Amino acid sequence: MRRKLVVGNWKMHGSRAANAQLLAGLKEAGPWNADVAVCVPFPYIAETALALTGSAIAYGAQDCSAHEQGAYTGEVSSAMLSDIGCRYVIVGHSERRSYHAESDQLVADKAKAALAHGVTPIVCVGETRAEREAGQTESVVKRQLAAVIHTLGHCCGEMVVAYEPVWAIGTGLTATPAQAQAVHAVLRAQLHAATDRSGVMRILYGGSVKADNAAELFAQADIDGGLIGGASLKAGGFSAICRAA
Ligand code: G3P
Repeated sequence: MRRKLVVGNWKMHGSRAANAQLLAGLKEAGPWNADVAVCVPFPYIAETALALTGSAIAYGAQDCSAHEQGAYTGEVSSAMLSDIGCRYVIVGHSERRSYHAESDQLVADKAKAALAHGVTPIVCVGETRAEREAGQTESVVKRQLAAVIHTLGHCCGEMVVAYEPVWAIGTGLTATPAQAQAVHAVLRAQLHAATDRSGVMRILYGGSVKADNAAELFAQADIDGGLIGGASLKAGGFSAICRAA
């Protein structure tokens, strides 16, 4: 049995005051029968770490550099994330792939850098609406995942994968449980061919997950939890999703 994992992706939201309130609310609402983490903006990681002291809620970042260190102004290395206690880092979110032109290979290199420092990469894959309508969903997610599998080699069993159909992100349009499960099964099969850990690896679903659709999504055979955007910004809503897991 895979233990469910629910991760809040705060994206570029928050303030010191709002975060303190949110984290206090989560600490009070937990624990849940699932692993739970929040991936917060870089400036708030240290304070999040402090706020979560003594709690089972893990924390992480939303991106990292593919480089070790050096003259890379504005970048944050996975060694730094590890140094400050991050358990997870999201890589390859569609917002970074599209707004920052991140390639499949760059995403794979970031995942590799994270693993090298003991930070678990949450690797996002997902098709756009046009790609789905053109019948390319499977080929797109397989291409995105293949780059990571190839780059990580036998270590690929250590990552978390997140399927986030781009058309479902922040739109209120959720993939149906059957649509999501179909893609998760494709991803699981691809992992199966690459690592003997495919059965224990967690594949999260992301895209307009809310308290009222989470249970049905998480009940699917290959959906092992969620990557939650908007609904992770309120303690009550996020906690309800964690309960559904
Ligand atoms: O990474 C989470 C994500 O992109 C989904 O966002 O707001 O649709 O839950 P949202």
